[in-house]
Amino acid sequence: MTGAARNFLTLAIIYAICGMILGLVMGISGSHSQMPTHAHIMVAGWLMSGFFAFFYHLFPDINRSRLAMAHFWLTAASGAVMLVSLYFLFAGNPGAEPITAIASTLFFVAILLFAWIALPVLRRAV
Ligand code: HEM
Ligand code: HEM
Repeated sequence: MTGAARNFLTLAIIYAICGMILGLVMGISGSHSQMPTHAHIMVAGWLMSGFFAFFYHLFPDINRSRLAMAHFWLTAASGAVMLVSLYFLFAGNPGAEPITAIASTLFFVAILLFAWIALPVLRRAV
């Protein structure tokens, strides 16, 4: 595995470890206040990044393209800021909300970029 596929799978594994540690902390402490943070690290982090990894692995011609790399870095940077700021938000820091809002919007832009990359590839693949 190379290129964007390898980057995404590495990112997915980091999210899985961080998200499960947070889940364990929640379970052990009995405080579920970080449930939305945990849920998004697991599904928007681990599952989505894992999905992107296998998508790019399936289509090696775009795996090393600049667009695929741009998609990786936008997803990674906005996702990391979104999830860390979400943690601070649910830890009782409402001041983190504007950062979460900007990062979430960029995370959404990243999925639009993925649509731009993936839809033509899927049409070609038929
Ligand atoms: C070490 C493993 C894990 C632990 C200890 C753990 C722990 C927890 C806990 C304590 C909650 C809060 C439940 C509640 O307050 O109702 C939760 C919710 C959640 N977890 Fe995990 N979790 C783990 C792994 C995972 C994995 C692998 C995924 C997905 C790939 C996941 C996805 C979710 C989601 C989506 C929610 C929110 C559910 C809802 O909306 O009611 N978790 N988890
Ligand atoms: C632009 C990015 C996103 C924003 C702004 C967003 C926002 C939200 C909000 C406001 C909630 C309700 C939380 C609550 O009631 O406590 C929620 C819940 C949830 N979202 Fe997202 N979300 C985003 C992306 C995603 C993605 C990409 C996934 C899955 C791949 C996802 C999966 C979930 C799940 C499973 C829940 C239920 C768990 C919970 O209640 O915390 N979200 N999201």
